[in-house]
Amino acid sequence: MNHFKYTFCSLLILALIISASFLFSGCSLTYSGEKLFYQEGCSQCHSYKGKGGRMGPDLSAVTNLKSDSWIDTYIQNPQKVYPFARMPSFKHLSSSKRSAIISFLKN
Ligand code: HEC
Repeated sequence: MNHFKYTFCSLLILALIISASFLFSGCSLTYSGEKLFYQEGCSQCHSYKGKGGRMGPDLSAVTNLKSDSWIDTYIQNPQKVYPFARMPSFKHLSSSKRSAIISFLKN
């Protein structure tokens, strides 16, 4: 019986440690805008500081020309800004991912 208690207790502690670390990593989760820029495919159409595609405009200076909120809206829904925009919308990106990308573009 004691043996059972010990096993139960250690499993419980293990579960607590795992969920605590899960919560902790969730809270401190920060995205790398640079990674997202390449992972999400922005770089297939846009160049940034000499690296990337050519279909879309170069984004090296975009944060000097447009406000953060303009860029944020554009990423979510380009057709809302320009009805004939060719850029696909990136509605699936959370606001923290979008702002990570925008801060990367300020580097
Ligand atoms: C399939 C190609 C393509 C992809 C992928 C793409 N874009 Fe674009 N983007 C464009 C094109 C083309 C334009 C020029 C306006 C238009 O037609 O939409 C543009 C315009 C923009 C603009 C406005 C630039 C300006 O000076 O007006 C921003 C900001 C931008 N894109 C950011 C991004 C970000 C961030 C991503 C990734 C999440 C991304 N784009 C992915 C093609 C793309």
